[in-house]
Amino acid sequence: MRHEPITFRPADPADATAVAGIWRTGWRDGHLGHVPEELVVARTPETFAARAAERVGDTEVAVVDGDLAGFVMVVGDEVEQLYVATSHRGTGVAAALLTHAEHLVRRHGHPRAWLAVATGNARARRFYERRGWTDEGPFDYPAQGPDGPIPVPCHRYVKDLASPDPSPR
Ligand SMILES: CC(C)(COP(=O)(O)OP(=O)(O)OC[C@H]1O[C@@H](n2cnc3c(N)ncnc32)[C@H](O)[C@@H]1OP(=O)(O)O)[C@@H](O)C(=O)NCCC(=O)NCCS
Repeated sequence: MRHEPITFRPADPADATAVAGIWRTGWRDGHLGHVPEELVVARTPETFAARAAERVGDTEVAVVDGDLAGFVMVVGDEVEQLYVATSHRGTGVAAALLTHAEHLVRRHGHPRAWLAVATGNARARRFYERRGWTDEGPFDYPAQGPDGPIPVPCHRYVKDLASPDPSPR
């Protein structure tokens, strides 16, 4: 059982380096062997640093004991990225982050959230299923590559959210 409080806040530019590190490590954990080699080659450390800096405005971070434990990026009704630092996996941070992301989708005015997960990312898929998300089946997600989109075998997961969140936070 976790006792340290988990707090959430919008990312600021000073978080970009920590976000990039969690993103890069987590991306490799969840994707190596499950996505085209062309995409693995394209996802250099520099690309994570650049994308983390560009996407600060879409990012919310989870903080535990002053440590940046994970982050989520929500765009409209899509939970686009959800990553937890290795040392905080299996602790409840991920579930809290996902609940937070669902609140953000609701606050954006959407009754249903969706996300894409790589077909071979068994840990993430198990995690989403345990949190009440439904697998709507396979599709190819067009991941951004240096020379255009690279199709990645994914599954689309959805979750119907309860009535709109009345409490602005
Ligand atoms: C996906 C992620 C956010 C989940 O957070 P987490 O703290 O690891 O999640 P939990 O440990 O609470 O739950 C994972 C579930 O998968 C199970 N699991 C662990 N390793 C597994 C594996 N190799 N294969 C299948 N299931 C696995 C766990 O037992 C748990 O299931 P349970 O609740 O039935 O016991 C986290 O692992 C992560 O950041 N991974 C790398 C980035 C990533 O893949 N993000 C998702 C992109 S869509």
